[in-house]
Amino acid sequence: MKNDEVQTVDATQRTAEHYTDQWGSGVNFQGFVEANPAAAMVMPGRQLGWANLFERIRRQAAVRPTTVYDAGCGFGDIARRLLVEPIPAHIDYLGADIHGSIATIDAPPTARFEQADMAERLPGNRLFDFIVCRAALHHTPDPFKTYETLASQLAPGGTLAVSVYAKKTPMREAVDDALRAKIVPMNNDDAWNAADQFTRLGRDLQASAGMIEITADMPLLGIKAGNYTVQDFIYDHFIKCWHNRQFSKQHCDLVNFDWYHPPYAHRYTVDEFAGMAIDNGLTIVSQKSITAQHYMEATRSAQD
Ligand SMILES: C[S@@+](CC[C@H](N)C(=O)[O-])C[C@H]1O[C@@H](n2cnc3c(N)ncnc32)[C@H](O)[C@@H]1O
Repeated sequence: MKNDEVQTVDATQRTAEHYTDQWGSGVNFQGFVEANPAAAMVMPGRQLGWANLFERIRRQAAVRPTTVYDAGCGFGDIARRLLVEPIPAHIDYLGADIHGSIATIDAPPTARFEQADMAERLPGNRLFDFIVCRAALHHTPDPFKTYETLASQLAPGGTLAVSVYAKKTPMREAVDDALRAKIVPMNNDDAWNAADQFTRLGRDLQASAGMIEITADMPLLGIKAGNYTVQDFIYDHFIKCWHNRQFSKQHCDLVNFDWYHPPYAHRYTVDEFAGMAIDNGLTIVSQKSITAQHYMEATRSAQD
């Protein structure tokens, strides 16, 4: 193996170790999300085009066989959204992820899970009607290549729905890179401890009274005119420091741990992201963006 291949294998292994811990029963994010549906609405996975897509998959799977591959399925959230009662009669759901807590995912028994690297094709030359990859592609070593691999597993007429991290202001990008350079090499325990500092910073900024008024757009800085709370202004433009009163302290730490510690966290402009679909001959049918992430649905021609 060449040096860069060894580094990639090592980074993928560290990504798996990070998420084995993050999605493990000790942290129980799954339990938190299920018990606090209103709090979970702040997550990008509850926004963008996801709910609408899940509804369409469920409608189709109620009347005809429909295969779904959930690449980087994490803690099983999408499985539980797709397989909510009444479970569509013809849905065939497969979730795959590299982390080691996959066996602990609590989902309806018809859901199948495999430990697999989405950067490689699944064994058996399977094709899927829907491939969903929510907030996971950017954690792979080469997301453009991974996207190509996912696209190659779409059935004719199939849909590939992906969300990725959005590029932020130049200040936020620089701070993210500098802090990730310090935190990525840490072991999980040290990175959880580091995450605590971001949670406390977010909490203290949120407790700071007053508003920041920006009187004119500053395009170079990526700042728009408007009134901001102290926390929103710093968070959106300068440094991610998640704190939310509806989340427990540990689950606030989880969001910061999730941002700063995984070895890869590629970020994209809308055009860069669209290029992934276009370069693979797919047709973009839906695109949405929020500050944190971009979402894109693209389809393979039925004639392919
Ligand atoms: C932020 S989580 C998102 C989980 C899930 N898609 C969701 O939205 O709830 C990112 C997930 O991508 C997984 N992941 C990262 N690299 C991967 C790879 N090469 N193959 C499969 N899964 C991967 C991680 O293990 C983690 O569970």
